[in-house]
Amino acid sequence: MLDPFARCRLHDDFEPVTEMGAYPYYRAVRERLATGEVLVDGRVLVAAGSNDYLGLSTDPRLKDAACRAVRRLGTGTSGSRLVNGSLSLHEELEGRLAAFLGQEAAMVTPTGFLANLALGALVGPRDTVLADHLIHASLLDAVRLSRARLRRYRHNDLDHLARLLESGDPSGAGLILTEGMFSSTGTLGDLPGIAGLARRHGVRLALDGAHDIGLLGAGGRGAAEHFGLEDAVDLHTLAFSKCFGTTGGAVAGPGQIIVYLRHHARSMVFSAALSPASTAAALAALDIIETEPERRHRALVAAARLRADLSGLGFETGTSETTIIPVHVGDILLCCRLWRELFDEGVFATAMVPPSVPAGRALIRVSATALHTDAQLDRIVTAFAAAGRRLGLIGG
Ligand SMILES: Cc1ncc(COP(=O)(O)O)c(C=O)c1O
Repeated sequence: MLDPFARCRLHDDFEPVTEMGAYPYYRAVRERLATGEVLVDGRVLVAAGSNDYLGLSTDPRLKDAACRAVRRLGTGTSGSRLVNGSLSLHEELEGRLAAFLGQEAAMVTPTGFLANLALGALVGPRDTVLADHLIHASLLDAVRLSRARLRRYRHNDLDHLARLLESGDPSGAGLILTEGMFSSTGTLGDLPGIAGLARRHGVRLALDGAHDIGLLGAGGRGAAEHFGLEDAVDLHTLAFSKCFGTTGGAVAGPGQIIVYLRHHARSMVFSAALSPASTAAALAALDIIETEPERRHRALVAAARLRADLSGLGFETGTSETTIIPVHVGDILLCCRLWRELFDEGVFATAMVPPSVPAGRALIRVSATALHTDAQLDRIVTAFAAAGRRLGLIGG
């Protein structure tokens, strides 16, 4: 038999990238400052690729809540929720999340990835899942593990989705998966269109709100609230690693479905429960999300400025409407060189290359947060201008 280790090599492009000193991954942050900056390789850099849109991960209220929980409950949960890992703190968070989202119940999971993976328990081999082409790996893995038939429609393409629905197998169940706010493009899922099609074809709609819950909608309840379609979504998933400034995830929806998932979702049943620190931090974050709407406004205003400045310089920034701004480069090598040039200019951004994005669509993912000052936004734009000119990506 063949040796599986013999096949374990990185993508060919990473060799020249590493030789150039432009390998952008696993860069260790030594300290995260409350100013939204990070200490990497002994230098203070502006964080420009963070998912911590509300700037809560360094907020003293979250840190205090996490420390209090550790003192009371320790550092771990000793087992999965099903057996011995359930805390009253988890139940408090689940009750608060369900009330916040106007759902009957919620189930807290160890990560956002595992919340999405739990959705796989809803479908099986005879069923069909219709999914946007850009959905997150965790949703794709949920479908793969369920062995349901996966049919992907072009990003936000309602005609394509409608055709797939029309040709679906009526003897199996149908589920549509989309994101509220797409993590690589910053675009919003076309919920009005998708929800209309789901209703017309009698299929369920599950919405991954990882990036938008906390950020969008007047009350921070995400893309569904933004579109006034909270009732049209059958299940919501959340990730606390973005607006909630910690780690963990949740599924929220009808009580009966949450009870079913608690017993049938393998990512829930066979993984240790969310830590006391993260659970308490998520509760503190929810308090802030509910009472400080100015944070999401600031993040969105900062993003609008950044987007206008970057596209004004001549960068292709796509159709983003949110805090995520993709700067399209295309080629992997060029993308990593731009990442390194930005790093040298004092900006810590994120390089996204295939398979996180489609082939030939490598990009630098810039994100704005509530913590960014105008001076920091200037620093980001100035760095892009200098680096983009050096690499011939923009004129001037
Ligand atoms: C859209 C989306 N869903 C789910 C996840 C998974 O969340 P977590 O990192 O909290 O496990 C991510 C994280 O990258 C994401 O971008």
